[in-house]
Amino acid sequence: MECKNGKVPENNVLASKNTEYELANSQEIDKVPVKEENVSNQVPETLINNVLKHSVPLPSTAPTVKGYDFNQGINYSEIFESYKFSGFQATNFGLAAEEILRMIEARKIPLEKDQEDNLEEDEFIKRRQGCTIFLGYTSNMASSGVRETIRYLAEHRMIDCIVTTAGGVEEDFIKCLAPTYVGDFHLDGKILRDKGINRIGNLLVPNNNYCLFEDWVTPILDKMLDEQKQDGILWTPSKVIARLGEEINNKDSIYYWCAKNKIPVFSPALTDGSLGDMMYFHSFKNPGLVIDIVSDLRRINTIAMKAVRSGMIIIGGGVVKHHICNANLMRNGADFGVFLNTAQEFDGSDSGARPDEAVSWGKLKKESKAVKIYAEASLIFPLLVAETFVRHFVSNKTV
Ligand SMILES: NC(=O)c1ccc[n+]([C@@H]2O[C@H](COP(=O)([O-])OP(=O)(O)OC[C@H]3O[C@@H](n4cnc5c(N)ncnc54)[C@H](O)[C@@H]3O)[C@@H](O)[C@H]2O)c1
Repeated sequence: MECKNGKVPENNVLASKNTEYELANSQEIDKVPVKEENVSNQVPETLINNVLKHSVPLPSTAPTVKGYDFNQGINYSEIFESYKFSGFQATNFGLAAEEILRMIEARKIPLEKDQEDNLEEDEFIKRRQGCTIFLGYTSNMASSGVRETIRYLAEHRMIDCIVTTAGGVEEDFIKCLAPTYVGDFHLDGKILRDKGINRIGNLLVPNNNYCLFEDWVTPILDKMLDEQKQDGILWTPSKVIARLGEEINNKDSIYYWCAKNKIPVFSPALTDGSLGDMMYFHSFKNPGLVIDIVSDLRRINTIAMKAVRSGMIIIGGGVVKHHICNANLMRNGADFGVFLNTAQEFDGSDSGARPDEAVSWGKLKKESKAVKIYAEASLIFPLLVAETFVRHFVSNKTV
């Protein structure tokens, strides 16, 4: 349709601003009177104002939408770089990558003399970097292949503190004892139960794996109880995880590397999984083990308070998301944040809350450029790590 000067072709059906209203309100359409103005070739002014409303010019710096051109061949780096200008969650991916790169740059800033934490005896909470990066993930991340991405981050000491749920701890150890298999979301639960196979989404874990886990972990729980009784050790979830990480002696394990690199792993609901089942059984055979969550609360909150700057990378929601955000409240908010999850905010859940809600609570700084990516993490997290930590690590190695 020609829109210059409001002129339209003579036979245009939008000839009257009143016609539509009158038709809609008429019982008998054929009784609608044909008015003189119905045949006018002038577009009504209201219509022009509504449809052809003039725009305020966008700032000259406003980015324009452009995707990757496959005539350039397949170049994954350039494909991911193009995401920022592609729109929707691709843009959020690009913004999240930039936010993580800001964390990495801040982490590289050497501590000033008065920031050195020489008096801290606890190696796990000692301030070491210019930015303390908190990584949180739900249990299913350790069940899935995202485990290997997390292990890489721990192995190369790219993060400073982890929060996960019980499954996120035990699934990593169990994988050192026996494999998890790829199955199908639609396998019948009744049949699987009869065969002793457990399903996590489209992954399958034979029940025997948990029997192997019991065989491995029970003697360690015995030793821990002895140390509690004889040496007065007060176990906390993070100390239990570090101990299991020392015991597993397997480089495939996330927590092997966390123990080695003194990266604390917090799991305030450590009993809510197979590890809890084992502790329950153990309480019959050899009762008395105490695991204190308040001492761990002190530990994680102290880490946040000590941080020169702080960044949160949180995959999924629930306890892991809130525990990290809440620790950062102790320092009046994290400086950087990336949330990656599928949760929505309309139900008022903390899982679904956007970064802005965390700002309102003082869990993220007002100036932060935190980003939420709405996506399933097994697809996105390895790519996000590739575009940030790995790219940065590799480029620094070759320089
Ligand atoms: N493998 C397992 O999932 C497993 C195993 C043993 C125990 N558990 C226990 O179940 C309880 C609940 O698990 P949880 O708190 O770890 O998380 P969860 O599975 O309840 O997930 C919490 C929220 O995180 C988001 N989320 C989860 N997976 C995601 C993904 N792949 N991509 C994007 N967003 C995602 C969703 O919004 C979800 O509602 C915990 O106490 C845990 O120990 C889980």
